[in-house]
Amino acid sequence: MFTYQKTNRYFAQTGNGFEDLASSEIENLGGEDVKKAYRGIYFQADKKTLYRINYCSRLCTKITAPLLRFDCHSTKYLYKTASKLPWQDLLKKNGSFIISATTSNSKLKHSQYAAQCLKDAIVDQFREKFGERPSVSKEDPDLWLDLHIDKNKALISLDTSGGSLHKRGYRVATTEAPMQESLAAAIINLTQWDGSKPLIDPMCGSGTLLSEALMHYYQIPASFNRKRFGFMAMPDYDEKVWKKVKNEEDGKITKLQKNLIMGSDISSQAVKATRKNLAMIPYGQSVDVKVKSYQEIAEITNSIIVCNPPYGIRLQKNSDIGLFMEDFGNFLKRKCTGSTAYLYLGKRELLKKVGLKPAWKKPLMSGGLDGVLAKYELY
Ligand SMILES: C[S@@+](CC[C@H](N)C(=O)[O-])C[C@H]1O[C@@H](n2cnc3c(N)ncnc32)[C@H](O)[C@@H]1O
Repeated sequence: MFTYQKTNRYFAQTGNGFEDLASSEIENLGGEDVKKAYRGIYFQADKKTLYRINYCSRLCTKITAPLLRFDCHSTKYLYKTASKLPWQDLLKKNGSFIISATTSNSKLKHSQYAAQCLKDAIVDQFREKFGERPSVSKEDPDLWLDLHIDKNKALISLDTSGGSLHKRGYRVATTEAPMQESLAAAIINLTQWDGSKPLIDPMCGSGTLLSEALMHYYQIPASFNRKRFGFMAMPDYDEKVWKKVKNEEDGKITKLQKNLIMGSDISSQAVKATRKNLAMIPYGQSVDVKVKSYQEIAEITNSIIVCNPPYGIRLQKNSDIGLFMEDFGNFLKRKCTGSTAYLYLGKRELLKKVGLKPAWKKPLMSGGLDGVLAKYELY
């Protein structure tokens, strides 16, 4: 019996700074006995809840099910212990799998080598029992495994998501500096947008904030476009339960009201990408997107403005990003009265350049950026 089958306890990975939001999300989706940890959440769930969390979570990047925990001081012991697991319960002899490994503060220092030992344990067991062995595949494997070794304690888990949940499946086109989907979802969540005012992104890039706003408000499951999940490889996977979860959640999708979500960008390429991405989401084509610099916008009143201006790392390399932020701050002050703005800045020091006093600011890290989200009330 695997560990998760005895405990029904799982671990959800999330971004640094997202833990509070993600644990509320898991509770709302039915997770029980929820406990926060660094960049993650432990929770208890039955099968239906586990599938629902994988299908609907906007803020978690991966949900893992523990298979086996053990003390691990050597690769030899890792191989020997992993060899005892009944791998044929998870994988067909001609199936495919992938291992993602991390090691820290342990005698085993090299995560790739640790992954190799686990892989050898699996394939050797199959070869001995069946004379045939599964293969390792990065492209659409049948089974996703995680190996985590910290302070000489190893944990082998099944990735029930099957690759990161931030890959929603709607991003078919991209621009130079797209925002990670789960970061955009966390930002939309923090705006507490309730649809009573329009939501506008005047620098929409590839439309991640617009897409996440659309999915959040209209209750479109975050993984609506994903066809496969890691939980489908679990020995106790129940297709009927999964279909029921999908039908129930898809049935909650509500219809878009016109002109509630709008976006624009100075780049026609970016607007094209936004339109293509939105077209992948139910009602996405009804979101109004235009090629326009924010300087051309006459005013944005009584709205929620949410945007991720260029921050000079990947964009605007040859221009003065400080001046750009100062001008944008003036635009907000003069032309956006009665609105509330949420700016996500990839570089915290740019906050000073906006020239407005934020109502609050919250550090949010993603994709190697030490970013910050700031809220401005524009009177
Ligand atoms: C960091 S990117 C936004 C990325 C976006 N959040 C996404 O997920 O794809 C900043 C965007 O600001 C746009 N931009 C730069 N200057 C602008 C201006 N003056 N008016 C409108 N958009 C502008 C760029 O074309 C770029 O798409």
